[in-house]
Amino acid sequence: MKSIKDVNFKGRKVLLRVDFNVPMDDNKNITDDTRMRESLPTIQKLLQDGAAIIIMAHFGRPKKGGFEPEFTLAPVAKHLERLINRPVHFTQELLGSGRPEAMAKELKEGEVMLLENIRFYPEETKGGEEFARQLASLGDCYINDAFGAAHREHSSTAVIAKFFPEDKYFGFLMENEVRNLEKLMHNAPRPFTAIIGGSKVSSKIGILENLLDKVDNMIIIGGMRYTFTKALGGKIGNSICEDDKLDLARELICRMEAKGVKYTLPIDSVIGDKFGNDAKTRVVPSGEVPDGWESMDCGPESCKTIHDIIMNSKTILWNGPAGVFELSNFAKGTNSIAKSVAEACKHGCFAAVGGGDSVAAVKQMGLADQMSYVSTGGGAMLEYLEGKVLPGIKAIQD
Ligand code: 3PG
Repeated sequence: MKSIKDVNFKGRKVLLRVDFNVPMDDNKNITDDTRMRESLPTIQKLLQDGAAIIIMAHFGRPKKGGFEPEFTLAPVAKHLERLINRPVHFTQELLGSGRPEAMAKELKEGEVMLLENIRFYPEETKGGEEFARQLASLGDCYINDAFGAAHREHSSTAVIAKFFPEDKYFGFLMENEVRNLEKLMHNAPRPFTAIIGGSKVSSKIGILENLLDKVDNMIIIGGMRYTFTKALGGKIGNSICEDDKLDLARELICRMEAKGVKYTLPIDSVIGDKFGNDAKTRVVPSGEVPDGWESMDCGPESCKTIHDIIMNSKTILWNGPAGVFELSNFAKGTNSIAKSVAEACKHGCFAAVGGGDSVAAVKQMGLADQMSYVSTGGGAMLEYLEGKVLPGIKAIQD
């Protein structure tokens, strides 16, 4: 697979798929533009070469088919203009009207155009081949920089690639994600520690199973840990638990033991008498949560244990917060992990962070640039770590 860095795109009309599915507030202000910024190196390279760029992106999950004002990419087009300091050609008219087609045709070297939300076309999410062909006819080569959507087999993320068998590439963002994830899954320096959180065991089974053969340490945190604690006979009070997953939790523990994976569950917990930042709090051993109380964070002893494991690791994968970190009184565990991982990175550890909440936590603490790698993909990273083949990656590698 050729890297775009070895190709000169002068005079080419490039179809570039990005993931600009960014969070916005009620006034349509973008509240976190990381995904857009991470695609800038690809856009800048193409502009420096003298390409004309037709950008394809989605926003949200419009369902009606056709234009829906709340899902327009207009605010993204404006924001992109500021980021690249040049006009972005944009129309809310859809393909078929003739307007975007004409704009694409007239697009000159060094110019950028953004197509309106690609999910306004129902064929997109169905992976329609005819729609992919229609998109392909707008340009003469294809670059996929949309790692966040690489787990979707959609027309613009995967199917379109077949129309450019000799002219399809990963953008820099995508190349970076793939390189880091491959290192993590196939070439990780040991000891390798996975720190996996999130509210439900059921949403992380795939990752836990896939990591069993790869890691030395598994630290289980977040809401899902109470299912494990209960499965081991602990009292968890009103803490979140999936009672139908207790057998699975026991089975996973047996499998970790059989594989020689050292697993760690936080030994103490910060509990509250209700779910809220104004709850009364106490610190108790994790298996001794009284009725009427719920555990919402890991306690200080757990933070020390986890810190030591992190500092003795050469590779870390962190996915999912330690507690209800959006409530400041229950954010200490997550913040402590973020600090420990940043410190480990200073000592040469390779640490990858992924998943909306853990990424939000490291950003909130201003530690994102101290991690070796922070993924732009939520579901995409999760599926990669589960060992699945991502259609957006495969379409370029085939
Ligand atoms: C994301 O935000 O995770 C990606 O943009 C994919 O969005 P989707 O889950 O709506 O396909």
